[in-house]
Amino acid sequence: MAVLEGKSVRLRPLRPAEYPGVFAWYNDPEIVAPFDRFSTDTFDSFARSVETAADDPRSLAPRFAVERVSEPGVIGLVGHYLAHPVLEFVDVWYILGDRAARGKGYGKEAVRLLVDHLFRTERYARIGATCDIENVPSYRLLEGIGLRREGTLHGALFHHGTWHDVYVYGVTRAEWESRRPPG
Ligand SMILES: CC(C)(COP(=O)(O)OP(=O)(O)OC[C@H]1O[C@@H](n2cnc3c(N)ncnc32)[C@H](O)[C@@H]1OP(=O)(O)O)[C@@H](O)C(=O)NCCC(=O)NCCS
Repeated sequence: MAVLEGKSVRLRPLRPAEYPGVFAWYNDPEIVAPFDRFSTDTFDSFARSVETAADDPRSLAPRFAVERVSEPGVIGLVGHYLAHPVLEFVDVWYILGDRAARGKGYGKEAVRLLVDHLFRTERYARIGATCDIENVPSYRLLEGIGLRREGTLHGALFHHGTWHDVYVYGVTRAEWESRRPPG
């Protein structure tokens, strides 16, 4: 699997020794909350999903660990999955489980690396993302890397006992490639 090097972060495969720490993020309401839900059953099913994700475009499992270039150790995860059986909707997702690492630009760089990698290696015509309309860091991240807000799905995401509205973001291949620096 590829290793994607950025200025401050790299995306690399998640290592088995890191599974327990990362699995704990899924079970910590302070990490993913208050804007999302992540469902995973047991540690074994989580580990299996990571190891089989490459063969399943619809898998919700993490595809890459996010690591600071300056300091080894996983601070976050990114993934992507085919979210619709017909429409060209590949949804990217992202989380910095290390909360101390948030707000420093790492998330934005990690998602930019992921989207660029997907356009370079897959034939996708469009890449998108969705987020709770109250998740300001998430949608600012998406806007910061050039995804456009395309609309709102009303009452589309259930978490914390109620249904929430969700923004849909997207960027076409032509738009992304027109902004990519030469080289
Ligand atoms: C969403 C998340 C990955 C963002 O990563 P991050 O490294 O903290 O974000 P960045 O530092 O790259 O900042 C991205 C943008 O959000 C803004 N931002 C970051 N934290 C913010 C905050 N607490 N409030 C408002 N804006 C914020 C930044 O200013 C930046 O916008 P700009 O480029 O216009 O200045 C991170 O907050 C996270 O893990 N959240 C919990 C999981 C989650 O919500 N995932 C997304 C589900 S859709």
